[in-house]
Amino acid sequence: MRVALAAVLFSQPDLLLLDEPTNLDLEGTLWLVDYLRLYRATILVISHDRDLLDAVCDHILHLDQAKLALWRGNYSSFEQQRREQQAIQLKQKKKQDDQRRHLQSFVDRFRAKATKAAQAQSRLKMLTKIEPVTAIVDGQVLPFHLPSPQKPLRPPLVAMDDASTGYGEVPVLRQLSLNISDDDRIGLLGANGNGKSTFAKLVSGRLKATAGSVRRSSKLEVGYFAQHQIDDLDPLATPYQCVASLMREGIEAKIRTKCAQLGFPNVKADTQAAQLSGGEKTRLLLGLASFNGPHLLILDEPTNHLDIDSRAALIEAINGYNGAVILVSHDKYLLTLARTASGSWKLIRSNHLMATSTIITNMSSSVLAAATADE
Ligand SMILES: Nc1ncnc2c1ncn2[C@@H]1O[C@H](COP(=O)(O)OP(=O)(O)O)[C@@H](O)[C@H]1O
Ligand SMILES: [Mg+2]
Repeated sequence: MRVALAAVLFSQPDLLLLDEPTNLDLEGTLWLVDYLRLYRATILVISHDRDLLDAVCDHILHLDQAKLALWRGNYSSFEQQRREQQAIQLKQKKKQDDQRRHLQSFVDRFRAKATKAAQAQSRLKMLTKIEPVTAIVDGQVLPFHLPSPQKPLRPPLVAMDDASTGYGEVPVLRQLSLNISDDDRIGLLGANGNGKSTFAKLVSGRLKATAGSVRRSSKLEVGYFAQHQIDDLDPLATPYQCVASLMREGIEAKIRTKCAQLGFPNVKADTQAAQLSGGEKTRLLLGLASFNGPHLLILDEPTNHLDIDSRAALIEAINGYNGAVILVSHDKYLLTLARTASGSWKLIRSNHLMATSTIITNMSSSVLAAATADE
């Protein structure tokens, strides 16, 4: 991805077309944003990365219900203008509905009355002439459902002491010493290949420590959304089957209620995974991972298949969830908003974990480079 992008940028075209260029790591994304901001020719970029759209774009081309509309300004400005336009249209629609109701009641009352029939007729004509205002209705984004743990556990949930882990002789991660508390919010940053997913696997218990120790609270339940889990989803499996496999009682009505809660009502529950969109698969897997209200939720790049509105819905769900969270994401906006007062940031770099007090909102690529150079 980096190489392909570098090759395109190197030739400095007059028109640069980029289709979702930010499936890079955070440093790559920050670098790209800086680069594009200063790019002197025309750029047309498709992206779900709000920071990039805000920093780089001065127009937004919005494709909605098979219509393209051009808006002046960056993404935040587009969002605000659109909200204002929606409010105006809703008001107009309400006014028009009242007017229509008024005319209709006149017609209904006086149509049969000889002295008023002509008036009723003209009102009927007026009614047919009213151009309906179609209020812009936002494509409804379903909320994500991340149930909180029923009973909090005494911290630490996980305690690591000088732990190493990896796949062969040479460990990927070394000298991991940290405690994870029940209210921790940990954002994992770091360039691709540095071991973020490996860390997630170690915490979830999918990888063992090759040296040192990792102790887990005995009642600990972990919800784990793995990075490439979407690709591993059985294409023939339906949400109904997935949910049923996690429920002890096999009562169909109860399973269907749960499916609907996860965002798969009615026939949607019987749709095979192959026919679900990336966003829907993510929704299903997140629902399954957090099914019983885990104490610790590990989300490894959950947003790769989510659009901007779904990402906002995910932020809301994470913020409403009461357990501990480990979040791997390259979406600066997500990491910023899904941070709580006690949020601690840990940066994985050069095979060990490093806590950073730098608040991510202030992070530019240069700050990030300085932070990682401190090691
Ligand atoms: N299943 C595996 N077998 C062998 N090596 C692996 C495996 N998974 C990851 N690695 C290696 O471990 C290192 C860290 O990978 P990973 O944890 O996936 O990084 P990140 O999630 O930060 O991109 C990389 O060098 C990668 O090649
Ligand atoms: Mg990874």
